[in-house]
Amino acid sequence: MTKPATGLSFIHRFEPGGDRDIPPLLLLHGTGGDENDLINLGRMVAPEASLLSPRGKVLEGGMPRFFRRLAEGIFDEDDVKRRANELADFVQEARSAYGLTAPIALGFSNGANIAAATLLLRPEALAGAVLIRAMVPLSQPPVADLAGKPVLILSGSMDSMVSADNAGQLATQLGNAGAQVQHRTLPAGHGLSQADVAIAREFLAHAAGAIVSAA
Ligand code: MLT
Repeated sequence: MTKPATGLSFIHRFEPGGDRDIPPLLLLHGTGGDENDLINLGRMVAPEASLLSPRGKVLEGGMPRFFRRLAEGIFDEDDVKRRANELADFVQEARSAYGLTAPIALGFSNGANIAAATLLLRPEALAGAVLIRAMVPLSQPPVADLAGKPVLILSGSMDSMVSADNAGQLATQLGNAGAQVQHRTLPAGHGLSQADVAIAREFLAHAAGAIVSAA
């Protein structure tokens, strides 16, 4: 395990990748996870990318999250905004500390929701995103410019937490802001499936290539 740089504003892990030209992945765990949770997933979907993995700072019954919620699926939107800005600031710090280009977020559940909020509030922080089981994080999204940013939303047709309508609304919001959105719905529940891994891997190979050749 690589020793993380000191003085950064989130507890995190950083794993350098074999190819420093491709965008790093910003790994954002779900409720109750931590900075170790998605490292293996990150390696599976982007074997050569550097991995930056912060731990959410909000505790719900001792479980780390990236923002406060009032109930399942009901968010404290002021906190969403504050925490998305905090996360974007951390990305900037980590880019300077580790010499990174803008990362592609790979978020699961609560991590996907903070990634979506960060895209909308601080578009410059992310080069793109893979949002697994994401929902709309902000009821009144700001006007954002996500021109050309690749975004993959992976929803589950049997997800009891995220309705098809809600996931579709997120895809529309991001698409209206100019992102190149692919929205796939898999025969899965809220949990991660093998199909998520395979589709995310293929998407990231294309997205990373497009970002490198546009740079
Ligand atoms: C959230 O709070 O972000 C969503 O309800 C997903 C979850 O973390 O359970």
